[in-house]
Amino acid sequence: MKNTWKSGIITLFPGMFPGPLQHSLAGKALDKQIWSLDTFNIRDFSNDKHLKVDDTSYGGGEGLVIRPDVVHDALLCAEENIGSSEQIQFIYTSPRGKPFNQDMAKEWASNKSGIVILCGRYEGIDQRVIDYWSENKNLMEVSIGDFVLSGGETAALTILDACIRLLPGVLKNEKTASIESFELDLLEFSQYTKPCVWQNRVVPEVLRSGDHQKIAAWQKNSAETITKNRRPDLWSKYLIRTNNKNC
Ligand code: ADE
Repeated sequence: MKNTWKSGIITLFPGMFPGPLQHSLAGKALDKQIWSLDTFNIRDFSNDKHLKVDDTSYGGGEGLVIRPDVVHDALLCAEENIGSSEQIQFIYTSPRGKPFNQDMAKEWASNKSGIVILCGRYEGIDQRVIDYWSENKNLMEVSIGDFVLSGGETAALTILDACIRLLPGVLKNEKTASIESFELDLLEFSQYTKPCVWQNRVVPEVLRSGDHQKIAAWQKNSAETITKNRRPDLWSKYLIRTNNKNC
């Protein structure tokens, strides 16, 4: 049997999936069953004859809040179909969550046999179901950045994309993942291709020299300079990790 990495998405908009992930690397991997996708429409778990899933907020306010009982049933159904919290990472996408990063993507792609993502919408989801699943089922609230999206679906697509490309057999050259941004707390070095001269800009001579040692040194220096200039936060982490006292 194939060792497929499973994903389950709990959403009010199942039509948004697989969306961009049906194309390119992720799309090919989906066809090859390296990963699978199941969507769970929150509306299917409504007990209301009009399929209502939300209600007015206690304490007032304009927006509607999604009911805890409806979301709980959707989560239970995903758990039954995708896997328990020992095998699967449960995630709730929200701007209040823990910032998503490459280490999380790596952990979820390698240690877990898949993820279930609950996509937030409107004003939010009743806090009690988030608390219950965080305390009992290892649900993690995750944000993809300090900005507010109109819903958690695009955040879910982003998280899925970052995990899928790390699954064995997805990247053509598995080595590619180990030289890219955020590996070793460095941003990626600059890349060049033909033509050698474009708009009076010449590809650095060393990259055309064929000297692999010099090329590696140039790439390291490029990655370090870019990280130092653009991301002082990453640069500090890098310095601590490499114990570099020269800078
Ligand atoms: N939903 C709305 N904004 C979000 C964000 N920044 N990250 C994750 N989910 C969200």
